[in-house]
Amino acid sequence: MTATPIVLLHAFPLDHRMWDDVAADLAGTRDVLTPDLPVPAGEDLPEPSLESAADHVAHAIRAAGGGPAVVAGLSMGGYVALALLERHPDLVAGLALVDTKSTADAPDAAAKRLRVADEVQAAGTVDPVRGMVEVLLGETTRTARPEVVERVSAWIGEQDPARVAWSQRAMAARPDRTAVLQAFDGPVTVVVGDEDSVTGTDAAEHMAAAVTQALLVVVPRAGHLSAVEDPAAVRTALVELARRADGTTA
Ligand code: MLT
Repeated sequence: MTATPIVLLHAFPLDHRMWDDVAADLAGTRDVLTPDLPVPAGEDLPEPSLESAADHVAHAIRAAGGGPAVVAGLSMGGYVALALLERHPDLVAGLALVDTKSTADAPDAAAKRLRVADEVQAAGTVDPVRGMVEVLLGETTRTARPEVVERVSAWIGEQDPARVAWSQRAMAARPDRTAVLQAFDGPVTVVVGDEDSVTGTDAAEHMAAAVTQALLVVVPRAGHLSAVEDPAAVRTALVELARRADGTTA
C-alpha cells in the first residue's frame, strides 16, 4: 500500500511553523510538505490570488514526487486547499479542512480585508494585524497557556508586511468553493476547535454536510488554531484521513 504524502497549508498571518508540532509527529510515517504561502520566502510575490498560491502548492507537490497527496489546510490554508482541488484535482487524494470555510467573504468582510492590506502596506509593518492573536486562539488557551500566546504573537511579528497585505487581498477575492468540495469524491475530514470564533462550528458543519462521507472532528478547548492548540488531536484526525486516502491511492 502507498503511504500517501501529506501537505499542510498554514493560516494567516502565519507561516509553515504553525504546523511544526503536527508535522514532527507525522514525519516518521509518511512524507510531509509544509510550503509557505503563497511562494517560498524570498521569492517575488505574484499578483494577489489564492489560485496562484494553489499553483505554487501544486508545483511543490510535483517537485517532491508528484502526489496525489492528502491536503490539509487551516483557515487560509483551507481556502488554498479548495483552490488546489479545483485547479489540480489529480493532486488531491484526501482533504482536511481545518478551522476554515468553503464560502466567500461577505462584501463588508472583503472590504475590511482591503483596508487592512492598505494599512499594512502604508505602515510597512505588521502592527495592524498583531492583535489577531486574540481572535486566533481560543479562550482556554488565552487564559491558561501564555506560552502559546507568546509563540503565536512572535510568529505574527516575524511576518513580512508585503506577504500579509498580499494574503488579505487574495482572500478578499476568493469565490465560494462549496461546489468544488461537493464534487470531490475522495475522503474528507472537517476539523474545528469548539472555541473557534473566526470560522467556527457553523462553517464546519456546512462543509461536512456538503460531502456525503465527511468526518467532522470537534476539538475541545481549542480555538481557530486547533493545530497549534491541540496538535495531537489534529494529528490523529489527519492519520485517520491519510489511512482512508491510502486505500484509494494503493
Ligand atoms: C486565517 O486564520 O487564515 C485567517 O483568520 C483567515 C481569514 O481571515 O479568513
